Amino acid sequence: MPALRIEGYVIVSADGMLADASHVMPDALKFEGDKQFFTEALDRADLIVHGRHSYEDQPNSPLRQRVIVTRTVAGIGPDPSNPKATLWNPAGASFEAASDHAGVRAGTVAIIGGPNVFDMFLDRYDTFWLSQVPCVRLAGGEAVFSGVPDQTPQEILARHGLKAGQSLILDAANGVSVTPWRRSP
Ligand SMILES: NC(=O)c1ccc[n+]([C@@H]2O[C@H](COP(=O)([O-])OP(=O)(O)OC[C@H]3O[C@@H](n4cnc5c(N)ncnc54)[C@H](OP(=O)(O)O)[C@@H]3O)[C@@H](O)[C@H]2O)c1
Repeated sequence: MPALRIEGYVIVSADGMLADASHVMPDALKFEGDKQFFTEALDRADLIVHGRHSYEDQPNSPLRQRVIVTRTVAGIGPDPSNPKATLWNPAGASFEAASDHAGVRAGTVAIIGGPNVFDMFLDRYDTFWLSQVPCVRLAGGEAVFSGVPDQTPQEILARHGLKAGQSLILDAANGVSVTPWRRSP
């Protein structure tokens, strides 16, 4: 069994967008139940991975070990502004080398976006936690995966070997739920 367990987390609109056309995550995708679910997951994770614009900015964020995906380094380097962060350019180094630099060789890795970073791990997720807001559409927005909207996020996850498990309701009034997409053994 691999030592690193890879989990993805995102909340998307009904049409699979994680941000609006101006690359901003709108308030229409923000729900207390989802925020609580996400925060608890990140508090349990051993390592967070995200692109330079997807810092989660929560009270516990400074405590979290993280890998930031960026082209500002050739391969791997320390982040001069955060002793708990490793800068990683996937064109120059493997993810294992980046997590090793971060001091994380076993445990849970939370992948939190943006779209390129979600794409990068499609063949590696053990579980992808897909939250969705069925009453919001963001036409022309930023899609969770590069294949959306030609395909739904669910179709893309299935194509990469993941299967939907039991959904949990995060906000009953707005029908917001999270579905774990798990890799079959
Ligand atoms: N709804 C949600 O759950 C959710 C989740 C995540 C993000 N978001 C939202 O999505 C928006 C951010 O999206 P974004 O497209 O700007 O994504 P991002 O991945 O956070 O940031 C993009 C930056 O990451 C680096 N990067 C991305 N792919 C790379 C690659 N293949 N190689 C090297 N570096 C790479 C680059 O950094 P450098 O410029 O430093 O090279 C790039 O400029 C924000 O509004 C955020 O709030 C929403």
